Amino acid sequence: MKEIIENQTAILDALTAQTADDIEQIRIKYLGKKGLLNALFVEFKQVPNEEKKEMGALLNTFKSKVENKIAMLKENLLESQSNTTGQEDLTKPASLLTLGSRHPLSIVRNEIVEIFSRIGYTVAEGPEIEDDWHVFSALNFPPEHPARDMQDTFFIEEREDNNHAVLRTHTSSVQVRTMEKQHLPIRIIAPGRVFRNEAISARAHCIFHQIEGLYIDKDVSFADLKQNLLYFAKEMFGENTQIRLRPSYFPFTEPSAEMDVSCNLCGGEGCNICKGTGWLEIMGCGMIDPNVLEASGIDSKVYSGFAFGMGIERIAMLKYDIKDLRLYFENDLRFLKQFSSAL
Ligand code: PHE
Repeated sequence: MKEIIENQTAILDALTAQTADDIEQIRIKYLGKKGLLNALFVEFKQVPNEEKKEMGALLNTFKSKVENKIAMLKENLLESQSNTTGQEDLTKPASLLTLGSRHPLSIVRNEIVEIFSRIGYTVAEGPEIEDDWHVFSALNFPPEHPARDMQDTFFIEEREDNNHAVLRTHTSSVQVRTMEKQHLPIRIIAPGRVFRNEAISARAHCIFHQIEGLYIDKDVSFADLKQNLLYFAKEMFGENTQIRLRPSYFPFTEPSAEMDVSCNLCGGEGCNICKGTGWLEIMGCGMIDPNVLEASGIDSKVYSGFAFGMGIERIAMLKYDIKDLRLYFENDLRFLKQFSSAL
């Protein structure tokens, strides 16, 4: 037995390890259940009594030698690993990180929100899955209005009380939700995704984005609406931008208007973007119909307000001269990489 221990000590001394796996193999060989040390301890039981003291001491020394050796191998391995990193050429340029870029719709949405927040608007949100009340009824849409038609609206669930679950077709539903819960005065801007049952083409999509504005207080007039929108147009499209308001119709505003901005591409001369008119239509707006205020429990004799709504895709198309709506949703990096923004 003495001989075996001596031999094994010599072998142990000579051992080296390159990897953590090598070290593990050594551990198993010596200290494992079926390892050498266990075998030696079994053999130790046969050693005559008079030799037990000497053999026991030898065996114990051998065991701690094994343990020390393994600890040492581990330490060396760690050290050599950190050395290799240390030996790398630190002056070598690092591999390039490819940075993502913001989606043009996010850039434009953030810019619009930023412009309105400078004059006191805060951001409001509402659900994309809505009900008939918030999308139509509370907004003064008569029951037979064509916008309620299956052709335009995605119905999610039919309900007995006729308050069917629908995907919102415009962000005006957020107006209703805000009027229902928020204290007056109200000055909010509501960006969000909307859904309409349209065939997808370069000029139409079944999913798009709008930004809604709502302002309610005492003595709010059409002049306030016009001033807010002129401020927005100048901030968004440049100091020289002009606006014009054309009479229009929405069930929830009275009077209603369509707002055009002067074409910033041709300076109002007429080009193929503005189809020779010098004007670009960008949003619907109007004074909130008293019926809408009353439907949300606001006294229309004391309060008045205005609302406006625009499509984010359309604004981004004008800003970046994008000709096909489908590009926004195709996730083609060659398209997406072209936009940069501070916002
Ligand atoms: N919700 C209208 C639309 O989707 C836009 C609008 C909003 C018009 C607010 C007037 C006031 O076309």
